[in-house]
Amino acid sequence: MTFPSDLTLFDDSLLDPQVQAALPDGYTLRALRSKDYERGFLDVLKVLTEVGHQTEQEFLDRFMYMYKHNDQYHTITISDKNDKIVAVGTILVERKFVHHNGLVGHIEDIAVDQHQQGKKLGLRIIQALKYIGARRGCYKVILDCSEKNVPFYQKCGFQQKEVEMAWYVPQEKARL
Ligand code: ACO
Repeated sequence: MTFPSDLTLFDDSLLDPQVQAALPDGYTLRALRSKDYERGFLDVLKVLTEVGHQTEQEFLDRFMYMYKHNDQYHTITISDKNDKIVAVGTILVERKFVHHNGLVGHIEDIAVDQHQQGKKLGLRIIQALKYIGARRGCYKVILDCSEKNVPFYQKCGFQQKEVEMAWYVPQEKARL
């Protein structure tokens, strides 16, 4: 599936105007767009972890899934004056039974281009995601991170709680 236009993942009303106002001149906060493959979205994610070698079509397939579930998936970008993406992040809204059918925001996949780190773009991405979580009605927003990023998230207003556990699915048990 391809699109003539540049589709936006979710409505601009969920974007924090205070974050936009605090960005360096020419930088813009946006919801993920369907043409962000060309703007280097996946390249920015490579500073975080292995991304793979998705084609543009594979990117679009994932984008369209998220678009159809855009009350849950909120991926945002910050781009520079040349419309190149320099920082990214996601908040996923989980629907629960506990806390009276409560909503929990999960922050995932935060990354800032290596040459753009230290300019508060990571902080702005987190502030923007917290705003989305609050606007969507989450009672809390949580994330997992490495020890070395704890001070960064503390500066973003998070406190350390509990312990992260992980089980990596053995290849022979993996199913699509
Ligand atoms: N240790 C201590 N302090 C830090 C660190 C760190 N690792 N990183 C940032 N800070 C501090 C800054 O000094 C700054 O402090 P100040 O306000 O006193 O000046 C404050 O945190 C805000 O820093 P930013 O400039 O916003 O940080 P940056 O734009 O570089 O983004 C990030 C930080 C996202 C960790 C970036 O370095 C990055 O992309 N790293 C590689 C990928 C990664 O580790 N992502 C996070 C994975 S966890 C997850 O996705 C849920």
